[in-house]
Amino acid sequence: CGIVGIIGKSARDVVLNGLKKLEYRGYDSAGIYLNDLNGHEYLTKAVGRIKNLEDKLSDNEQGLVGIGHTRWATHGKPSIANSHPHYSSDKRFYLVHNGVIENYAELKEKYLSDVSFNSDTDTEVVVQLIAKIAKEKCLSGFLAFKEALKLINGSYAFLLVDNKEPDHIFIAKNKSPMMLGIGDGFNIIASDAISVLDQTKLFIDLQDGDVADVTASAINIEDIAGNHIERKPYLVNIDPNSASKGTYEFYMLKEIDEQPSVMRRLSKEYFNDDADVKVDANIVQSVAQSDRIYILAAGTSYHAGLVGKNIIEKYTDIPVEVGIASEFGYHFPKLSKKPFFIFLSQSGETADSRVVLKQVNQLGLPSLTITNVAGSTLSREATYTMLLKAGPEIAVASTKAYTAQVAVQAILAKAVGEYLKIAAAIDFDLKRQLALVAEGMQEIVDGKEKINSLAKKYLATTRNAFYIGRGVDYAVALEGALKLKEVSYIQTEGFAAAELKHGTIALIEKGVPVVTLINDPATADLTRGNIQEVESRGANVITIVAKKFAKATDDIILPDVDYYLSPLVTVVPAQLLAYYASKNKGLDVDKPRNLAKSVTVE
Ligand code: G6P
Repeated sequence: CGIVGIIGKSARDVVLNGLKKLEYRGYDSAGIYLNDLNGHEYLTKAVGRIKNLEDKLSDNEQGLVGIGHTRWATHGKPSIANSHPHYSSDKRFYLVHNGVIENYAELKEKYLSDVSFNSDTDTEVVVQLIAKIAKEKCLSGFLAFKEALKLINGSYAFLLVDNKEPDHIFIAKNKSPMMLGIGDGFNIIASDAISVLDQTKLFIDLQDGDVADVTASAINIEDIAGNHIERKPYLVNIDPNSASKGTYEFYMLKEIDEQPSVMRRLSKEYFNDDADVKVDANIVQSVAQSDRIYILAAGTSYHAGLVGKNIIEKYTDIPVEVGIASEFGYHFPKLSKKPFFIFLSQSGETADSRVVLKQVNQLGLPSLTITNVAGSTLSREATYTMLLKAGPEIAVASTKAYTAQVAVQAILAKAVGEYLKIAAAIDFDLKRQLALVAEGMQEIVDGKEKINSLAKKYLATTRNAFYIGRGVDYAVALEGALKLKEVSYIQTEGFAAAELKHGTIALIEKGVPVVTLINDPATADLTRGNIQEVESRGANVITIVAKKFAKATDDIILPDVDYYLSPLVTVVPAQLLAYYASKNKGLDVDKPRNLAKSVTVE
C-alpha cells in the first residue's frame, strides 16, 4: 500500500503523481480526499490502476489539502467501498491507513455496535471510533485521534483529516513507514520518499509511537501522551534518475542490467584498495562468537539466504540454518547456545520477518539486518545493519536486491572467516571474484537477445515449467522458478535435479520446459543424467551451464566464476527468461497481479 498527503499547495496532482510513483508496490484500488479550505470537499475512489481514479476526477475537483492511498486488499476484497480514504458516518473524518488493526473486531463490538459500516475494513473501525470519541467527549479531532490510538493494537501509518479543521493533517505511525517532507509553504507526507522527491528533498522520519499535527507552515510531533518530540530533518540523497525508467520499457530489465554496477559498488563499499575486506568490527566479532547463524527472510530474500548458507558455512565453518520468516516466527526451533540472527530484506519492512526479530530482541540475542533501505524498520530494530547499496528497486519482482544480498553475505563470510583464521576465507580473493562476477553478468546481459529467443521458443504458450539443479544450483532453481511464475504466471517449480524422478517427473510430458542449471563440479555429470530422464519423456530442456562443464549444444553458457558465487551469474539468465516470458505475453512485467513489493502484513 502507499500513502501520499499534502497540505498548503494544490494537492490533487501532487497526490496522484506521488501515488503513481508508488504503483510499483502493487495495489488493487486507489482513492483520494481533497478539501479546498473553502467549504468544498471531494472523495473519489476507483478499483484498479491510478489512471482509473484520475479519469473519475473532474477538473474542478481540486484542494489545498489532500490525502491519497493505494490499497492492497487484506481485510475485505478489492472494491470501491473497501478502498481508502474511509470516512465516519457523520462525514467529518477522512482516514487513510497502511497496516493492520489487530483488535478491530473487538473495538467494533465494544464501542461501535450502533454504527452502520460502509466497508468490511479494519480501517473504517478506526475512523468511526475517532468520530464517536470526538462526539461523545466533545474533543477536537487531534485529541479524539490520540484517544482512539490508545485503544488500537496493530500496525499503522495513518493520515487523518477533520473537516471541522481542514487546514491540518493528523498523522500517527506504528510499525509502518511514514515520512514527513518539508516544503516551502507546504508540507507533504508519504509512506516512501521516492513518491515525493520532486517536491522536496528535506525529510523527517517519523518513529513508532509518533503522532503529528501538520499544517502548511508548522509541524508538531508528540508522543501519545502529548509530550512534544523534536525530530531532526535530513536531506534525502537519492539520485532521482535511479528511481526513473529512463529509456527502459520496464524497471525489471533496467534493474537486471544494473547488476554489474551494483557488484562494483559493493566492492568499493566493502573493500579497501589493498583488497582488504571492510566490515564493522562489532558485527564481525558478534557473528564470530556465535555457534550457529539463523538467516530469516521471505520470498526472493529467502532464496538469497539459501545461497548465503553455502557461502557462510564454507568460509566461516559456522553452521547456518535458513528459515522462512513466517514459519519460524510461530515455530521457533530449539536454538543453539549462542545464536546469531541475520534478517535479509530488500525493503526492511516485511512483517513476517519483523515478527521474528521482535522475539529475538525479547530474548536479548544479537542480530543483523541486511537491507537495501537505510532507516527501515528491520534495520532500526536489529542490533546491526549492512546495506545492499543496490539503489531503489522498483519492479515488484526482485532482481538486483537478490544478487546484492548474496554478495553482501559473501563479504560478511569473508570478514568473519578471516577473523576466525579459517584458511579458506584467507585465501578467498573475493574482491577479484566480484570483479569477475560483474564482468560475467555484463556478458550475460549483453547477450540477452539469445535469451529472449529461448523465451519465445519455449515459454510463449506453456502452462507449466520446471527449474532443476543441484548444490547451489538448487537454490537458484527455486529463485528462477519464483521469478518465472511471479511475472509470467506460468506455473513453475524449482527442484533438486535428482528429486524430480521421485514423483514430480509424472508431470513431464511433451513440450514441458525444464530449465537445467549446471555449475556444481560434484554433480555436473549426474545432472546431465537427469536431463536425459526428462528429455526422453518429451521435455524441452534449456541448459544454463558453466563454461568449464559446457557442451556446444548447451543453450546458455555462463562465464566461469567461483562455485560458491556462481548463483550471482546463474540467476541472471533466469531473471531474463522470466522478464521476456512476461513481456512477450504482453503482461505488465513490473506489476504482476496480486503481488506487492513490500508486504507489511503477516
Ligand atoms: C514480497 C515481494 C517479494 C519479496 C518479499 C520479501 O512478497 O513481492 O519480491 O521477495 O516480499 O521482501 P523483502 O523486502 O523482505 O526482501
